[in-house]
This record gives sequence, structure tokens and C-alpha cells, in this order.
Amino acid sequence: MKTIYSTISLTLLTLALNACGGGGGDIPAASTTNNPASIAPLAASEEELGRKLFFDANLSTPAGQACASCHDPASGFADPDATRIAPVSEGVVSGRFGNRNAPTAAYAAFIPERTLQTDPNGGDDFYQGGLFLDGRRDTLAEQAGDPFLNPAEMANPDKAAVVNAVKASDYAGMMVYLNGENIFDDVDAAYAKITEAIAAFERTDELNPFTSKYDYFLSGQATLSDAEENGLRIFQNDGMCSNCHTLTDLADGSTTVFSDFRYWNLGVPANPDNPDASTDYGLGGDINVRSEYGKFRTPTLRNVELTAPYMHNGVFNTLEEVVSFYNTRDDASMNWPAPEVDDNKQTADVGELFLSAQDEADLVAFLKTLSDGYTPP
Ligand code: HEC
Ligand code: HEC
Repeated sequence: MKTIYSTISLTLLTLALNACGGGGGDIPAASTTNNPASIAPLAASEEELGRKLFFDANLSTPAGQACASCHDPASGFADPDATRIAPVSEGVVSGRFGNRNAPTAAYAAFIPERTLQTDPNGGDDFYQGGLFLDGRRDTLAEQAGDPFLNPAEMANPDKAAVVNAVKASDYAGMMVYLNGENIFDDVDAAYAKITEAIAAFERTDELNPFTSKYDYFLSGQATLSDAEENGLRIFQNDGMCSNCHTLTDLADGSTTVFSDFRYWNLGVPANPDNPDASTDYGLGGDINVRSEYGKFRTPTLRNVELTAPYMHNGVFNTLEEVVSFYNTRDDASMNWPAPEVDDNKQTADVGELFLSAQDEADLVAFLKTLSDGYTPP
């Protein structure tokens, strides 16, 4: 038996060698796409390459899921499926779910790296910044390297699978144009360039347009309705919202993205519909520090109208529910379910705001002025 097998494999080997030699007329010539030098450069900016990568559904294993599948521009760069299938995103392998509700990728470019800050008012030191809801990655490029390899997301076995898929794409020439003809020879270097290009795309106006009604209101080109204006007033005053979803402009002069980039435990209830039933400790889980258990980074509120469901576990389906929770969490007659994590529950500014039904409705009306793509009259 052994001899027969080796004879067969020898024959196959001979055939293969012939094919490589390109001798036999009816044997197709070996594909030349394996030769990096053969990929013609294709002029493009890093941002254009990043855009191709972000929308390419061939960069998962099996093919079928792009970054944009969970960060769809039509859904404020969050997951369009999340309210239909489960509160969290399904990966390319069906039946595999991550444990968190996909946040928007828009305006993530403004999130600083995670640092431990000293409170100027003498309070406890606090964490600020970091990508992902627990801040475990510092930069957009580092973040972009993770979903490709996450078994519950794009499920590639290794970096080489991603790099080979890019090499086989019709925009491979952009990689060569930007990074040299040998870029595909070094998997780690190519992977780094891929993640940097995605980050460059995420910094463009396409993900950071600042074209909401609120922005036009600030520049004097639009007027808020009475309800929206009252909502803004509640947001800054009795609602305490702007204590965390800050209204002050960013250091680079851009108008706010409505986040202090700090971490808080709002006492959000566990979500029984989350396929992952384990407790999510957020920042505290990532750094293994009990005094940070249950805390998540304050998210942007831009395009929040389009990004349901809400909170890290997607427990709330509507903005009305979110606002009602902030207003009445600590009102026993409301019977809100117990928090997912009880430690470190925020009490100041949250839980019993004594807002009227009209104020709640107006807050929602204001939140809806934060959707991009508004055309001023
Ligand atoms: C299967 C759905 C899915 C896919 C595919 C996916 N993401 Fe995400 N994304 C998520 C989820 C869920 C989170 C939050 C995870 C967490 O906090 O642990 C997230 C977080 C992010 C964040 C951080 C946002 C913030 O507020 O911290 C960015 C940026 C992002 N993704 C970009 C990308 C890019 C780029 C790709 C493609 C390389 C991608 N995502 C692919 C679901 C997905
Ligand atoms: C103490 C800080 C703090 C205050 C005050 C606060 N928020 Fe938040 N907000 C957060 C944090 C942190 C989250 C994310 C919590 C989580 O996922 O568990 C959040 C989440 C949200 C979300 C869901 C966003 C999403 O993409 O899932 C909305 C909407 C929201 N807040 C609106 C408001 C409004 C309106 C007010 C005022 C009534 C308010 N917030 C007050 C910190 C705060």
C-alpha cells in the first residue's frame, strides 16, 4: 500500500511541476497573481484604499461580511441588523454573536487614547478615552486589526488570510502604489498598512461630516423647533445630560461629539435577549479593577436616532426608553430591572430627574437633531 501511495503522489508532483514549467499546451498557465511584482500600481490615496477595505465583504472567512456590515452608513455607521436578529451583532459564521451592541464607527476618530487622569477637583483618578466600549485599544489602526481575526466577527484564521484576500482584490494595486511592490511579501507589514488605511478612511469627512440640524443651528443656518429647543435646554440643565455628553467644542475646534470620553456605570439592566448571558464588567473587566466594574465609555450621541438598540448590551430599543430610564431609574414604582452590575452605580445626575412627560418627549426631539445629512432651508 505504501508504495502505491508514493507512486500516486509522485505522479501528482510531476504533473504539478509540469504545470509550473508551463510546458503543456492544454494545462493552463500558473496564475501570475502570486507574483507581487505583477500587481500593477493603482493610483489612490490612503483614504481611498481604506474606503475599499471598509466596504469589502471578501475580507472575512467565509466571504460575506465587511466592516460596513456592522457599521453601515445608512444606520449611522452602526449595525442595521442588530434590532432584528439580536441586540448584538452576528458574525460571518451564523450563530456566532459578540457580547456587545455595535457602536457607531463615525466620530470614533475623536476618541483619545486611554489614560488615567487626575481629577483637578481632588476627586478619584479616572480613566478617559480608548477605543471599544471598555477602551481596550488606543488607536483606530489598532482597533481595526481586531474584527478581522475575531471568531465572532470576520473570523479569519490569521493575518495572512486577510492580506491574501486584499492581494486578490481588484484594488490590490492601491496597496502597491502606496506601499511599494514588495508590500505583500511581509504579512505583518501589509496587515499594518491595511489597518492604517482603514483608520485614515475613518478620519475623513465621510464618517465625520458634522452636518446635523444641530450643527446648522450653531452656525445660524437653521432654527430649532420649540420642542427641540426645550429639549436642548433640558439636556444642559435639569436633565444633566451634558455633564457627560459634553456640549463644549473639541480641542481642534470641531464642535462636540457629545462625549467626555469617561467611564460610568449607569446601572443599565442586563439584557435577557443577549445570546451571551455572562455579566459584562466593561472597563473594570478589561483592566481587572473592581472599582471600574460595570463602567462603559460615554458614547457619542451623533446619529443616535439611527443606531438602535441602545447601551452596551442593546437593552433599550427606543430613545424614549433611554430617556425614561435616566429620568426614573430610581423611582421604585417604575420597576426597572436590577442593574447588570451593581458595583459603582452612578447616583449623581442619573436616576431621578423629575422631568415631565413633555420634557422627556422634547429631549428625544433634540436627540433627533443630531442626525447627519440635514439640508438647511
Ligand atoms: C460582526 C459585527 C462587526 C464587524 C464585522 C465589525 N465591527 Fe466594529 N464593532 C462591533 C462591535 C460589537 C463593537 C464594540 C465591541 C466592544 O466594545 O467590545 C465594535 C467597535 C468598533 C469601533 C470602536 C467604536 C467605539 O466607540 O469605541 C470601531 C472604530 C469599529 N468597530 C470599526 C470597525 C472596523 C474598521 C471593522 C472592520 C475591520 C469592524 N469594526 C468590523 C461590531 C463589528
Ligand atoms: C454620568 C454620565 C452620563 C449622564 C449624566 C448621561 N449619560 Fe447618556 N450615556 C452615558 C454612558 C456611560 C452611556 C453608555 C452606557 C452603557 O452602554 O452601559 C450612555 C448612553 C446613552 C445613550 C445610548 C447611546 C448608544 O449609542 O447606545 C443615549 C441615547 C444617552 N446616553 C442619552 C443621554 C441623555 C438624553 C441624558 C440626559 C437625560 C444622558 N444620556 C445622561 C453617560 C451619561
